[in-house]
Amino acid sequence: MRIGILTSGGDCPGLNAVIRGAVLKGTQIHGQEFVGFRDGWRGVVDADIVPLVRKDIQGIAKQGGTILGTSRTNPFEGDGGVDRITENMERHGIDAMIAIGGEGTLAAAKRLTDAGIKIVGVPKTVDNDLGATDYTFGFDTAVQIATDAMDRLRTTGESHSRCMVAEVMGRHVGWIALHSGMASGAHAILIPEQAISMDQIVDWVRSAYDRGRAPLVVVAEGFVPDHESDAHSERGLDAFGRPRLGGIGERLAPIIEERTGIETRATTLGHIQRGGTPTSYDRVLATRLGLAASDAVEEGRWGRMVALRGTDIVHVSFEEALDSLKTVPQHRYDEASILFG
Ligand code: F6P
Repeated sequence: MRIGILTSGGDCPGLNAVIRGAVLKGTQIHGQEFVGFRDGWRGVVDADIVPLVRKDIQGIAKQGGTILGTSRTNPFEGDGGVDRITENMERHGIDAMIAIGGEGTLAAAKRLTDAGIKIVGVPKTVDNDLGATDYTFGFDTAVQIATDAMDRLRTTGESHSRCMVAEVMGRHVGWIALHSGMASGAHAILIPEQAISMDQIVDWVRSAYDRGRAPLVVVAEGFVPDHESDAHSERGLDAFGRPRLGGIGERLAPIIEERTGIETRATTLGHIQRGGTPTSYDRVLATRLGLAASDAVEEGRWGRMVALRGTDIVHVSFEEALDSLKTVPQHRYDEASILFG
């Protein structure tokens, strides 16, 4: 069987380890052949195809990014569509696809599967917000990068007796903020799932300062403070129709400074969290998902995604994969917030 692999949506560390795992298992055990589609669905629509043989994937598990490139192209827009994709696959002798991506990628994969195209999915999101899998690769790396950054922010904060505000990724959910904030001993963690008043934030900062600490506030980019809830939509949409985020740390810092009298600085970690070498945890998880994706193709599990449940790799339907956003549950937030005061 000849399989096309694509990586789609925002990148994250571990994508190359998935590709390597699938190609090694597929070529060595199942006798499968592989090609790569360049830049996600764009390469599928434009038939922009590169060979993927053993020498192409050697030593790539430790490399960040994706050797195939990625994009946020929707395969149903522009020149795309089922007929065009089917024709491209037939012309290039491609029998099936492994699509590595997040919610948008899996939604497109589901539509194509419903139209008869053979696809197996692999979950990917640095935000860790896909309900059908316990963890996504890339998340552990992002948390590690954010934690390292906060450890550094704390030492400079302590030198100057300043409050430091660190903005991390997390469009809809606060997993990166929760984990990096817990790991670095934050005095406040602000996430989209929790409505937290400015009064409460000021109290947490003040109380840490009064205990002789340099307050550290970790805020997820999707957090909306009470005074901004009406204005949230005013920042508009980006070119892909998503609400513009970012800058919440910069907006909170002057308010904290004014209301507490404590000098305050904000740092936005941004795409640093998605760059560079994956942690060993992410390499292992991504490799196992790649191995399982090759098996799933061999077994003809079309329309299913490989996922992590406990320590096992399982298969879930695309419907289940798309069914629920994995938000931070109340008890996990309560656990973390005990440490603030
Ligand atoms: O979904 C992952 C994510 O990293 C979000 O946390 C963030 O809002 C978004 O991608 C950034 O996307 P882009 O790379 O397109 O700016």
